[in-house]
Order: sequence, then structure tokens, then C-alpha cells
Amino acid sequence: MRRVVAVDGPAGAGKSTVSRGVASALGLEVLDTGAMYRAATLAVLDAGVDPHDAAAVEAVARRAAIEVSDRVRLDGRDVTEQIRGPEVTGAVSTVSSHPGVRAVLVARQRAWVDERGGGVVEGRDIGTVVFPDAPVKVFLTASEEERARRRHRDEVGARREVEVEQVQAALARRDALDRGREASPMKPADDALVVDTTGRAADDVVAEVVDRWRETVDR
Ligand code: DC
Repeated sequence: MRRVVAVDGPAGAGKSTVSRGVASALGLEVLDTGAMYRAATLAVLDAGVDPHDAAAVEAVARRAAIEVSDRVRLDGRDVTEQIRGPEVTGAVSTVSSHPGVRAVLVARQRAWVDERGGGVVEGRDIGTVVFPDAPVKVFLTASEEERARRRHRDEVGARREVEVEQVQAALARRDALDRGREASPMKPADDALVVDTTGRAADDVVAEVVDRWRETVDR
């Protein structure tokens, strides 16, 4: 059995923080698949391709060398900060709605896990599509207000001046697209542990996921 923890959920639900904590407790690495879709989106924008043009977007994604670890690299260039900017954030849901793009990136996500024998993989469709046989699946949620506050804090930390209302509107729009798309929509797997992180400390949520792992995998 692959040692995979699938961590899905909308923006600001706490996926990255919880994934890092779980990975460190279990001695696994983390793969942020959202960063892969963001890097592919940057490649599309850099190439001057229309994000709605499915065939052209897929071709760009196929050619793009994307490396995701502590830093994110696109064709050897460090794009860690750039992929969190408003241009990429505004186009990423359109780019990731194309089945061809998803096929390219899902194959790379599976290869990444195969090379390591496991990992904590965070995204939107990990438990439903990428690793439906993952022994532990988590779907994180939080109120829209709390998710917007968390993202707003990230934006201010990155020295981007925006109002929390603006962040909340952009987040709601992206969630609706990610949830409503035909290809691999964001939704909890039937056997996912659904955790509302509103008002909860990250450590507490990490402990809950690690407990689930110990109950089901490392007994
Ligand atoms: O996790 P994030 O907010 O950085 O993800 C950015 C976008 O990428 C998200 O709005 C939808 C897309 N995405 C996806 O379609 N499937 C994934 N597994 C991960 C992200």
C-alpha cells in the first residue's frame, strides 16, 4: 500500500500548515499540487496563451518543467513568490479546469509519490481522483470569513496591499469554479475525514490526522 495522506479542501482551509505538520510527524514529504497548477498557469500567462484555449494551455503545461519542493521552479527559474500573485491566482482555476492539463499534472503527481513510496499530497482532487486508494484522506474546511482572514494575512505578509473583503470575494469565486467544474471537481471523498478547522489550532488538527493514520496504517 502506498503511504499516502490525501489532504483536500478549499483555499485557506489550512491544507499547507496541516500537511507540513502531518508530514513531519510521519516522516513523509509534502507535495503541494496547487503550486503545480499555479506554475503551469504562470507558464501559460508568460507564453501569452489564452487560459480558455484548452489545446494551447495543455501544450504549454506539457512542455513546462515544474519542480515543487521548498521553492517552486518553472523551467529552472525560481517562481515561488510570483505564483502567489494576483495574475496567477486570477487565472489558475480556468487553467486547471481543462482535463488535458489535469492529465499531465496528475501523471507527474503519481510519479512523484511512486519515487518516494508515499507522501502527504495536498490539493482539491487527491482523495477522489489522484489517489483514490490513499489509506488516509482528509477534507479540510473552515468558514469563508476565517479562510479569507487567513489568506489576507498571507497577502499582507507578502506585502500585497488588499482589503479582506477583496480577498474573500476572490476566494469565493475561485471555490465556486473549483467546485463547479466538470473535470475532477473539488469535493470530499466518500471515505474522507472531514475536519472544520475554524477556530482550531493547527497542532490539534494535525494530531487528529496522525491519530487516524496510526489507527488505520501503522497499527
Ligand atoms: O491550493 P491552491 O490555492 O494553491 O491551488 C490553486 C488552484 O489550483 C486552485 O484554485 C485549483 C487548482 N488546483 C486543482 O485544480 N487541483 C489540485 N489538486 C490543486 C489545485
